[in-house]
Amino acid sequence: APITSPDITSICKDAKDGIRNIDTALRTTKCCPPSLGKTIKPFKFPTEKTVRMRWPAHAGTKEQVEKYRAAIQAMRDLPDDHPHSFASQAKIHCAYCNGGYTQVDSGTGFPDINIQIHNSWLFFPFHRWYLYFYERILGKLINDPTFALPFWKWDEPAGMPIAEMFLPETINGKPNSLYDVYRDGPHMEKKLIDLDYAGTDKDIPDQQQVQCNLATVYRDLVRNGGDTLSFFGGEYVAGDSPVAGGDPSIGSVESGSHTAVHRWVGQRGNPNSEDMGNFYSAGYDPSFYIHHSNVDRMWKLWKDLRLPGHVDPTDPDWLNASYVFYDENEDLVRVYNKDCVDIRRLKYNFVENSKDPFPWRKSRP
Ligand code: C2O
Repeated sequence: APITSPDITSICKDAKDGIRNIDTALRTTKCCPPSLGKTIKPFKFPTEKTVRMRWPAHAGTKEQVEKYRAAIQAMRDLPDDHPHSFASQAKIHCAYCNGGYTQVDSGTGFPDINIQIHNSWLFFPFHRWYLYFYERILGKLINDPTFALPFWKWDEPAGMPIAEMFLPETINGKPNSLYDVYRDGPHMEKKLIDLDYAGTDKDIPDQQQVQCNLATVYRDLVRNGGDTLSFFGGEYVAGDSPVAGGDPSIGSVESGSHTAVHRWVGQRGNPNSEDMGNFYSAGYDPSFYIHHSNVDRMWKLWKDLRLPGHVDPTDPDWLNASYVFYDENEDLVRVYNKDCVDIRRLKYNFVENSKDPFPWRKSRP
C-alpha cells in the first residue's frame, strides 16, 4: 500500500528524528501545523490560464527580485500561527522529515512508524507539492497571480554562485527578507557552490570548481540516474520504517548535488548544522526553496534528456502516495504523487534562457 499522510492537524508530535543536539537546537522542534478545524478536501487543479514562469535566481530582473523580496517579507510579517507564515512554511519540512507524523490514516495504518519523505522515491514528488503551494501562497500575499519562484541554477556556470540578492543583511536600511543569519560565512564570501561538497573545502581554482560541478550534474542525471529507481530513489511503502540517510537506495540527485548544497550553505559549527544542514531547520533559509526549485527542475531536465530508462514511476504505490498541505486558501488538501507528474497541469514552468539546456552534457566525469 502507498504511504498515506495522516490528518496533519490531529496526528502530529514534536520533531526528534535526525536532530542530534536537540537540547541546543537553534530552531524550535515544535513543528506541528496550526489546526483550524478544517476537514481535508480533495485537490483541484488550478484553472487559471497563466503559467507561472520560474526564473534563474542569478539573472532576475529588478522587478522580479523586488516582488520576490516583498512576498517573503509579507510571509515574515504574518503571525507565526498562521498556516502561511514564514515559520509555518518552514515547519512543514520539519514535520514531514524529522518524525512529526506517523503512518496512520482514518484509524488504519502503522501508528508506531514515522513518515520520512527523504531517502526514497517520495523525495521528488513531495518537494514538488511543497513548492507548488509555497509559490501560490507567496503570490497571494502580494496579490500577483503570475508570481513565480526563482531557481538556483547551479547546473550552469553563471548560476553557480549563490545569488547576490540573498546576501546583504539590510537593503536601504531595512532587513533583507532573503537574508538568513545561519549560513556558512566563509562559503557566503566565496559564493561559488561546490556540488560535490562533503564537509571539506576543495580549495581549487574557480575554473576547476566549475568543471567539477558540471561533472557532478552529469553524474547525478546521467551516469548514476539511468533508470527510474536510481533517479527517484528506492521504493518506500506503508509499513516500511523511515529510510535512513546513507541508504544506498537514495536517488542520484538527492544523495548527490542536492545534499551537497544543503551542507555547503548550512553554518559549520552550529549544533545541528542549522539552517540548511538539517531537515528540521532548512526551511528557515529562503535559499532552501530556491535550491529545491532547481532540484524540481532536474526532474524535468532528466525527462527532457529522453534517454532510455528515463521514465517516471508507474507503480501504484508511488502514484497513490499522498501528503496533506494547507493550500493558498488555507484549506487543507490531500495531494497525490500521480497528480504532480505533469507540471503543465500545475501551471508553472521554468525559463530556460540559454540555447543549451544541458551545458554539462559533455562533462562526463
Ligand atoms: Cu527536503 Cu532538500 O530536503
